[in-house]
Amino acid sequence: MSQVGQLAAQVVNNSDQKDLLRLSWGVLSVDLEDTGLMLMANLFKMSPGSLGKFARLGDVSAGKANSKLRGHAITLMYALQNFIDSLDDVDRLKCVVEKFAVNHINRQISADEFGEIVGPIRAVLKARMGSYFDEDTVAAWAALVAVVQAAL
Ligand code: HEM
Repeated sequence: MSQVGQLAAQVVNNSDQKDLLRLSWGVLSVDLEDTGLMLMANLFKMSPGSLGKFARLGDVSAGKANSKLRGHAITLMYALQNFIDSLDDVDRLKCVVEKFAVNHINRQISADEFGEIVGPIRAVLKARMGSYFDEDTVAAWAALVAVVQAAL
């Protein structure tokens, strides 16, 4: 099996991690748009090098007032929703991840650069989950991100 398939199977077969992903997604998706904007703001703050890749979006410091950034933030969150909806089916998770990877390969995003999203995800979880935040939840998201990284 390919590395993407192996990592996808690990996620699908780990019910504890899937519970954590679904529980935290339930919290993050309540305010989908602002959570997406928060995730992008965290990425730009924690990995300033990523800004160069997002030149099309213009002045990202404008936040929600920047309609291109706003559109990107919303689209990004629906991509995550696609992953969450595929957690019980290895083939489905794999094909969604591979489709999603193409969009990033076309933008010359390496696996290492993509992995830089884990820190920003951790910060979003911390802000949104309050006393329910824990490192196991971060690890569950990192396992999902690793499936995408394997496809890059
Ligand atoms: C949770 C992680 C991520 C998700 C869910 C995500 C999702 C998406 C989606 C849905 C698109 C639009 C697809 C398209 O226009 O073809 C996109 C575009 C893009 N992504 Fe990601 N992405 C993630 C992480 C990253 C990271 C870490 C980087 C760079 C370091 C990155 C760089 C880009 C760039 C440059 C674009 C094109 C933006 C534009 O000009 O519209 N992404 N991403």
